[in-house]
Amino acid sequence: MIHKCLFPAAGYGTRFLPATKAQPKEMLPIVTKPLIQYGVEEAIAAGMRDIAIVTGRNKRAIEDHFDLTYELEHQISGTKGEENLRGIREIIKRCTFSYTRQQQMRGLGDAILTGEPLIGNMPFGVILADDLCINDADGQDYGVMAQMVEVYNKYRCSVVAVEEVPRDEVHKYGIVAGQAIDDDHMMIKSMVEKPSADAAPSNLAIIGRYILTPDIFDTLRHTEPGRGGEVQITDALQQQAERGMVIAYRFKGQRFDCGGIDGFVAATNHFYQKTLHD
Ligand code: G1P
Repeated sequence: MIHKCLFPAAGYGTRFLPATKAQPKEMLPIVTKPLIQYGVEEAIAAGMRDIAIVTGRNKRAIEDHFDLTYELEHQISGTKGEENLRGIREIIKRCTFSYTRQQQMRGLGDAILTGEPLIGNMPFGVILADDLCINDADGQDYGVMAQMVEVYNKYRCSVVAVEEVPRDEVHKYGIVAGQAIDDDHMMIKSMVEKPSADAAPSNLAIIGRYILTPDIFDTLRHTEPGRGGEVQITDALQQQAERGMVIAYRFKGQRFDCGGIDGFVAATNHFYQKTLHD
């Protein structure tokens, strides 16, 4: 069983300024729920109840969100508004939350390494809340992280979720190439962080879902800064792939890139439509 899920949440969210000037981007709402809550719900659906969050300055609202708010709860007790708190109350009851701060922005790899004391020596999930993933097309809710746990249980190695992106967008992602096992699974041979369209080994992009084996921490400790002068998880995973095996998994479902305005609005429309039909 994988119990822990790490949420790197230290970034500034500059694309959403001024909205993110004094509040974390992870707290921006898609209809009525903050982005990070969708991620935590996906982790819970995958059986992960220990939620570890790497935060930074200006992120205290995240901790407050995953805690009781006595005054508010007292005020709305017995009113219609109380219903709106049902989901978050359930999450708070079912999960434990732990936090640590990344002091300097040194990249996603460094943020994950910062989370080591919260994770320890067990395989763990990683969710980048900016990538909001859903899989409810057939009326079932079989989330992407739950799918990845199955992949991990089969291959017992690190797993990354991937999807095809247009060639002119490969420069925004970690890109992977390797040897297909079947239509949905591939053994990774090479991975490159944000390559130019010419240098990209494929158009299969890593999205913000990972299952990592704990040796990743030692690997990250010895990984030199790469693209953008930052320690990249992609580079550490490349080393894991060379030493053993890393699986790329084509997930079932849909991803909204809520790190940008277009994806954020698309996700908002999607969930708004859903509320109309619920
Ligand atoms: C990070 C990773 C990248 C991955 C992306 C998915 O980049 O470094 O490999 O493809 O997340 O969203 P970021 O979007 O944080 O720049």
